[in-house]
Amino acid sequence: MSQTSLAPFALVTGASAGLGLATARCLLERGWQVVGASRRAAPIDHPQYADLRTDLADSAGLADAFETAWAERYALASRPRVGLVNNAAVLGPVGPISTVDPVALTRALAINVTAPAWLTGRFAGWVGGVPLRVVNVSSGAAHKPYAGWATYCASKAALLRLGETVGAEVEAMPALQGRDVAVVGFAPGVVDTAMQTDIRGYSTRELPMVQRFLDLKADGHLLPPELPAAAIADLLARDDLPRFHETRYTG
Ligand SMILES: NC(=O)c1ccc[n+]([C@@H]2O[C@H](COP(=O)([O-])OP(=O)(O)OC[C@H]3O[C@@H](n4cnc5c(N)ncnc54)[C@H](OP(=O)(O)O)[C@@H]3O)[C@@H](O)[C@H]2O)c1
Repeated sequence: MSQTSLAPFALVTGASAGLGLATARCLLERGWQVVGASRRAAPIDHPQYADLRTDLADSAGLADAFETAWAERYALASRPRVGLVNNAAVLGPVGPISTVDPVALTRALAINVTAPAWLTGRFAGWVGGVPLRVVNVSSGAAHKPYAGWATYCASKAALLRLGETVGAEVEAMPALQGRDVAVVGFAPGVVDTAMQTDIRGYSTRELPMVQRFLDLKADGHLLPPELPAAAIADLLARDDLPRFHETRYTG
């Protein structure tokens, strides 16, 4: 394949299940080459797809998992466009703050915040002058405090401000100034995935609002992951984005 005919390329974290899996599939259907980063392999059999089996909680191992040779192998600097979907996340410890285990909290922050931050920095360097779109999968928890979700809310708020700061760096830092880099904080809605199954398993003592999620499921109001996934794929293809903006799935 000549360099000029290379497909757009995306890394989707958490592509083994849920929203990340649906996003990877959608991008493949639209002609992207995709690498998925998760601990498990994704159930995808496609010539343009590869798994990078990795534990994103291992902050010290990130540089080995995504070494410079990896970016060179995928010729990121020669693509027409590159996308990074920071989708992988965990709820982390759920329950009153007095019960939060610090090791579990740190692990959740490593997955939800540290890995997206590090990947954004690496991708900004690797792509050179190629347009880079970063979608950070957000949540209402980035803006609202939900009792029992201190770790998750804190991590999603941090991810949001992280993306906003990268947008500011594209405006003001010589390392990124003038580059075609746009970051989006995208809230997908309430999506029918394993994360929702986990949420419904908590007691009201641990998660006072759990009934709301039980009701949404019972009433058939959870979104199929394919819907917000298509919105993420749309964002990665957009040229007219500000350096940073927030949006959510609206149907
Ligand atoms: N579902 C919702 O209603 C909802 C609402 C708002 C926002 N979100 C956000 O949407 C995104 C996707 O959530 P989801 O609902 O699709 O969750 P999910 O079904 O639980 O999937 C989570 C994905 O993250 C990966 N992951 C978890 N820990 C990892 C680790 N240590 N290393 C590498 N990958 C890891 C999992 O892969 P492995 O287990 O194979 O590692 C899996 O592919 C998250 O950012 C979540 O916060 C979801």
